[in-house]
Amino acid sequence: MSFSSNTEVLVLGFLCLLFTMAQPHNPKCSDDFNKLITERNIANCTKFTALDAEFGWAYHNDSRVEILIGAPVESKTGWLAWGVNPSKRAQMVGTRALIGIKQPNNSLTLNTYNVTKYTKLGCQLLPSNLDVQVIDKKMGFLSQNNFLYIYAVMNLTGYNNSALNIVWQVGFHSDGEEPKMHHKYLQNFDSRETINLKNEKISALGESRDHLRTVHGILNIAGYGVFFPIGVVVARYFRRFPFKKPWWKEAHKYCQLIGFLLGSTGWAIGLWLGNASKGYIFRTHRILGIFIFTFTTVQMLAWRLRPSPTDEYRKYWNMYHHFLGYALISLTIINIFEGISNLKPDNMHWKWGYIGILIALAGIGTGFELYTWFAFFKLKKKEKKKNGSTDAGETKHQY
Ligand code: HEM
Ligand code: HEM
Ligand code: HEM
Ligand SMILES: *[C@@H]1O[C@H](CO)[C@@H](O)[C@H](O)[C@H]1NC(C)=O
Ligand SMILES: *[C@@H]1O[C@H](CO)[C@@H](O)[C@H](O)[C@H]1NC(C)=O
Ligand SMILES: *[C@@H]1O[C@H](CO)[C@@H](O)[C@H](O)[C@H]1NC(C)=O
Ligand SMILES: *[C@@H]1O[C@H](CO)[C@@H](O)[C@H](O)[C@H]1NC(C)=O
Ligand SMILES: *[C@@H]1O[C@H](CO)[C@@H](O)[C@H](O)[C@H]1NC(C)=O
Ligand SMILES: *[C@@H]1O[C@H](CO)[C@@H](O)[C@H](O)[C@H]1NC(C)=O
Repeated sequence: MSFSSNTEVLVLGFLCLLFTMAQPHNPKCSDDFNKLITERNIANCTKFTALDAEFGWAYHNDSRVEILIGAPVESKTGWLAWGVNPSKRAQMVGTRALIGIKQPNNSLTLNTYNVTKYTKLGCQLLPSNLDVQVIDKKMGFLSQNNFLYIYAVMNLTGYNNSALNIVWQVGFHSDGEEPKMHHKYLQNFDSRETINLKNEKISALGESRDHLRTVHGILNIAGYGVFFPIGVVVARYFRRFPFKKPWWKEAHKYCQLIGFLLGSTGWAIGLWLGNASKGYIFRTHRILGIFIFTFTTVQMLAWRLRPSPTDEYRKYWNMYHHFLGYALISLTIINIFEGISNLKPDNMHWKWGYIGILIALAGIGTGFELYTWFAFFKLKKKEKKKNGSTDAGETKHQY
């Protein structure tokens, strides 16, 4: 059986796929956007990953800052928001925002809004005055690519312009001048940065966060999603029946150990990411993740703590180890899909990549299972012929 080479091909292929996906994001602005900023003599520009927003700025002095922000807004009544936040970190609550709304009659409305904790709780968000001076503001829409943009000149005296909290957002629905709740995708939570306006380059935190998420996903899929099931296949089919291989034990142990190490590293990165990104939480994914880590740790205790094969409790230990093992495999499959769904709406490559892995694993499992039954019936027949009585049932049950 060329087992390990199968695993390697799977894992390597998968890593290659993900590596290409994890290529650094290109912060260059689009041609359309570059045209908009050069028309206004703004020379510095960056493209953010979150919501595909493009941002141009010119810092003259604290009392005169020019910005241009744009993002694709598909919906007929969509809106685009941009604002600064005087609180400690870039976040929704406390943002002094400019919000441009596409009206159903194709007119555009641009107003200032004070985004408070009540907004987050669901209270109406209506235009209001701000405690920051907006010297000039305009908005526009490029219908060829559904691109909504806002231009503003602000007096940011009192803000720290070398560490300015900016927040942007895109919504799909509005009622007159009231923007309605945005999507709850990761992109809509990542749409904030603390930037140095006085610099020509913006080092966006979002980039490293994206890379860590990719690493988290890869490690968890490789550890929990590939090594664990392969280790189970080894324990199930190579222990006694249909194949009796002396190396099954080492192979099972080390598959699960590698799986555990990769998975736990990925898990720790997940926790770090969860704690680093304030303001939202993926509850189901988090709870399942903590559960999985705890019980794989318990399962790993088998390394040292297990009754000897002759012990009378060994059969209970076997039952418990099997049950927990299969329960964990199911939970990890669920949580991997849950994790992938966190990356909506751009998660199709993850989804199909993992479905590919599942199909391969299911193929391997089904193949061995069919072969096991085939071998079992063959054996039974042979034994029946040999001595009339049958203890092949025993053999099957012992495996
Ligand atoms: C129109 C009414 C709005 C409602 C009802 C609303 C509601 C929410 C809610 C409930 C969350 C947390 C989601 C979760 O924990 O699962 C959230 C997050 C967020 N929202 Fe809004 N939002 C609105 C408008 C805005 C606007 C105008 C902006 C940008 C200026 C914005 C930017 C953000 C950001 C960046 C987050 C990520 C977490 C954070 O920074 O606190 N939202 N929003
Ligand atoms: C989280 C990691 C682990 C998982 C998910 C896991 C899972 C499983 C599963 C599902 C089986 C049953 C296979 C079958 O026959 O259907 C099994 C069997 C076994 N595992 Fe593990 N295992 C893990 C770690 C370990 C470790 C670290 C050891 C010991 C070093 C170990 C020792 C065994 C033994 C001895 C059996 C055979 C039990 C018997 O005789 O029935 N396992 N494992
Ligand atoms: C069984 C495997 C997995 C486990 C045990 C796991 C565990 C975790 C944990 C504990 C967190 C922290 C949640 C929080 O504190 O809010 C987390 C976050 C996250 N996980 Fe997973 N995860 C797994 C698989 C995946 C996969 C396959 C993906 C995507 C491809 C993924 C994507 C994410 C994302 C996007 C976050 C949120 C990060 C952030 O808040 O910035 N996870 N995961
Ligand atoms: C923006 O770009 C122009 C031209 O390259 C440069 O003179 C200026 O200092 C840059 N920085 C800011 C913060 O505007
Ligand atoms: C800030 O810059 C603008 C435009 O460059 C200029 O008109 C204004 O006088 C400057 N203000 C201060 C306080 O330097
Ligand atoms: C900018 O705002 C500050 C305080 O908010 C104010 O003192 C100053 O006069 C304003 N500057 C201009 C040019 O309006
Ligand atoms: C379009 O609708 C907005 C708000 O509903 C209204 O203020 C505006 O006058 C309308 N414009 C036209 C051209 O009908
Ligand atoms: C905007 O909301 C903040 C609280 O988030 C409040 O302190 C501030 O006074 C409000 N500004 C205006 C102009 O209402
Ligand atoms: C502004 O932010 C920079 C960078 O974080 C920091 O070094 C500086 O002390 C801050 N300035 C003020 C006035 O808070």
